[in-house]
Amino acid sequence: HFHAIIPAGGSGTRLWPLSRRATPKFLHDVLGLGRSLIQATWDRVAPIVGEDRVWVVTGESHFDQVAEQLPHIARAQIIAEPSPKDSAAAIGLAAMIIAREDPDAIVGSFSADHSITNVDEFRLVIDQAVAAAETGDIVTIGIMPRNPATAYGYIETGELLGLDGAPTARRALAFAEKPEASTARQYVNSGRYRWNAGMFIAKASSLLDILAEEDPPLYSGLARIAEAWDTPDHDEVLSAVWPGLEKRAIDYVVAEPAAAAGRVIVIPGDFGWDDVGDFDSVARLRQPVPGEPRGVISIGGNTDLLEVDASGVVFSEGPRTVAIVGLEDLVVVDTDDVLLITSRSHAQDVKKAVSVAGERG
Ligand code: GDD
Ligand code: MG
Repeated sequence: HFHAIIPAGGSGTRLWPLSRRATPKFLHDVLGLGRSLIQATWDRVAPIVGEDRVWVVTGESHFDQVAEQLPHIARAQIIAEPSPKDSAAAIGLAAMIIAREDPDAIVGSFSADHSITNVDEFRLVIDQAVAAAETGDIVTIGIMPRNPATAYGYIETGELLGLDGAPTARRALAFAEKPEASTARQYVNSGRYRWNAGMFIAKASSLLDILAEEDPPLYSGLARIAEAWDTPDHDEVLSAVWPGLEKRAIDYVVAEPAAAAGRVIVIPGDFGWDDVGDFDSVARLRQPVPGEPRGVISIGGNTDLLEVDASGVVFSEGPRTVAIVGLEDLVVVDTDDVLLITSRSHAQDVKKAVSVAGERG
């Protein structure tokens, strides 16, 4: 069976102060779809795997909000973690819990912070990925790079594999997570690299074998937790083991070493993919709302927005009138306790303000 894992726990600091510790970005309807990012992820993957095979891994403080936003998920399939330990622990634990019930399971991890416009094409690509995962390799999805972004992983594509059910599958020759700008430029210019879409599809057993080889302490910690998961020892084991786990991304723990060992497949996918990472991407991806002042995109429901010769993106829930006059590509985020003002071109730097704001995060 094919199961979907949705890790939902990144801090989303470049979308601060819309994205807060108490309500991270995946709980917000950032794109104006009438659905939060995690709901939109559910909408994409539940029809592929079936509602009873979707799993979410999230912070325990977000458990109730996730359960409320996803009324069709079984509560037992929302895996609550005591603190953020990055994606390797989150995905690894879910894969173990799934594999205990379903040893032959194929798992796919789907980030909770993506925008995909062509869902039909996405589905065809995922069908190929599942077929390719039967080989026992780790399958990734490769997006044609639009610029030398340093916020993504890069996959070097090799020869076509000619797999049944996955005609476009290629060998991944190398995986490089978040390279420096000069390296990213070389990758893009070479024409051989694709962005990693942040989705990993594999037999649960293959994923866990690589985790065990590459990071034995993380693997054995997770294994202790998974063993006690459905027992009365659950809380005790979780609180004893979890704090000591290493904080590492799945890209470093699984994708890079597996690619170096020739065990990664890449399916090229072009389905209008984007990572909703900062206010510049929000401004780009946001659908225009009828009646909205031209040029300024508003989020949050405050309709009292005055715009004169200005453009950009404004988040405001009111009750104040927000007026922007004569400024281009402005970003304004007006919340109860924080007012952020920046520009689209500085969207990446918002996280610096969060680190200065510190505890108030
Ligand atoms: N439960 C849980 N706990 N989930 C987490 C945690 C955690 O501590 N940390 C991150 N996640 C989730 C995020 O919510 C997201 O759904 C997914 O794991 C990926 O984490 P990000 O923090 O968003 O990663 P990234 O965007 O920097 O990089 C990844 O995605 C890119 C594409 O969006 C990498 O896979 C890159 O290679 C890739 O290009
Ligand atoms: Mg991301």
